[in-house]
Amino acid sequence: MKNYPNSGFTVWFTGLPGAGKSTLSKMLAERLKQFHLPVQILDGDEVRKRLTKGLGYSHEDREENIRRIAYVAKLLTNIGGITIVAAISPYLNSREEARAEIKDFVEVFVQCPLQMCIQRDPKGLYAKANRGEISNFTGISDPYEPPEKPEIIVRTDEEKPEESLQKILTELVKLKYIPESLI
Ligand code: ADX
Repeated sequence: MKNYPNSGFTVWFTGLPGAGKSTLSKMLAERLKQFHLPVQILDGDEVRKRLTKGLGYSHEDREENIRRIAYVAKLLTNIGGITIVAAISPYLNSREEARAEIKDFVEVFVQCPLQMCIQRDPKGLYAKANRGEISNFTGISDPYEPPEKPEIIVRTDEEKPEESLQKILTELVKLKYIPESLI
């Protein structure tokens, strides 16, 4: 149901740790808030302190994490909110389930070569994973399944954050989720 400005949708950022999901989700939220749109971010790091506290990083726990995030995203989307999810969400199947549940779903693949994510290592977790101090670390000792048909691909190794943001906004206009006057 695309009938802006009152219809909700979810922008779902997926990608490797350190690819830039949280950064872009905050930039997008800030931009949309400037236009007084009802925006809520659900970021894996934050959500895991509350909504999904206690879950770890096994296949099963990640699936449960994504299921709960998708459920909340659906509730917010259904009452006209713009929900921005930033979670590794490494499994194709989990993301397809989220897409089917939420419906107004825009998947953004935050693409960045693993080597560059390792170089960036903003939280020092790749280093820990490489030293064997963290197990099941996505990209090192756990899989990441890239999207097959995301609505949007941003290349954070090649684009400046502002360029990636612009790409996302342009696509949201094309998909008729936001009016052209916003970009
Ligand atoms: S997801 O796989 O279930 O989607 P989510 O995005 O919620 O992951 O959480 C990822 C965050 O948890 C990372 O940004 C990182 O800070 C932290 N983390 C801790 N252990 C791991 C791990 N083994 N693999 C990935 N991220 C981890």
